[in-house]
Amino acid sequence: MALMLEPTPETLEHAAQVLHAGGLVVLPTETVYGLAADASQQSAVSAIYALKGRPAGHPLIVHVADVSAAQRWGVFDGRAMALAQAFWPGPLTLIVPRQPEAPGWACGGQDSIGLRCPAHPVALGVLKAFSRLNPLAGLAAPSANRFGRVSPTCARHVLDDLGEDTPMLIDGGACEVGVESTIVDLTGARPRLLRPGRIRRDAIEAVLGQPLGGQESDAPRASGTLASHYCPVTPVEVVNASTLNDRLAVYDREQRRVGVFARHQPQAPHAVWLQAPEDEMGWERTIYEALRALDAEGLTRILIAAPDHASGWDAVIDRVSRAAVRG
Ligand code: TXA
Ligand code: MG
Repeated sequence: MALMLEPTPETLEHAAQVLHAGGLVVLPTETVYGLAADASQQSAVSAIYALKGRPAGHPLIVHVADVSAAQRWGVFDGRAMALAQAFWPGPLTLIVPRQPEAPGWACGGQDSIGLRCPAHPVALGVLKAFSRLNPLAGLAAPSANRFGRVSPTCARHVLDDLGEDTPMLIDGGACEVGVESTIVDLTGARPRLLRPGRIRRDAIEAVLGQPLGGQESDAPRASGTLASHYCPVTPVEVVNASTLNDRLAVYDREQRRVGVFARHQPQAPHAVWLQAPEDEMGWERTIYEALRALDAEGLTRILIAAPDHASGWDAVIDRVSRAAVRG
């Protein structure tokens, strides 16, 4: 049975040793739980791909303790420095050119690298302990879920998803942010937003002093940008809050049990309702938990009454739209 460990100083030190020996460790971060391995060891990185069932060409984010560690892996220009200084430690991943001599096991065959300094004390504590054992000190860590499934935002989600395959797991409670980091690609002349997250587009643009481009068809491979990523087993439908009750009336007539994640209780006796929070940060924090909870009910459908697309809601809209696309 997998071990769920309290984040004591001894546990953090032990985790660093396991990683240094080529093992895997599940760590809490402020966004979601990550499945970590030493990014400089090919076999350790391969073990992440094998456990997740993730296709080989999909690059992983390398986590570091600070900007100087990041610079051992990636080439930081003025834009990258400015963003790291403004938002690290925090939920922002920078895609930059890889240092030619840096190991490329985590990069899916690309000459770019995704780097992030997480703001969670457990992730940072393990990174710091690991830095004392390994001077490169980079931890490859994708979300600790099977490929294509919903990211885990608490230790229990990891066990539910990885089961007996769960490696050493440090329990850091519920993740504060709840959706994956914002990803900005700085490898081209024009910076681009590859994945919306808690660090908002306008905050990034204010630091860069220029607008961000979006995803284009030649964007680097990013599994978080596949249409059907973040998918529960039950089909998900995103509906407008104003049309929710009409939609539910149809399912009620057909006597189909459906789940609803909505701000207000719907007028539908057969619906399993989970109350959605009011603000966008609340949605970010709870959306994956809600999808998992409703998915476990054995329903024919999950309806999400998403708020109208207003600024600040990009990350929520992005994740619920992807959950609604069948893989
Ligand atoms: O919040 C997060 O970013 C979490 C926590 C654990 O830090 N990690 C995470 O990792 O979401 P993952 O592997 O599930 O998503 C990483 C995304 C993927 O879509 C990956 O393809 C993209 O980052 N990525 C990594 N390196 C890249 C690169 N060189 N070029 C383009 N995309 C890259
Ligand atoms: Mg993921």
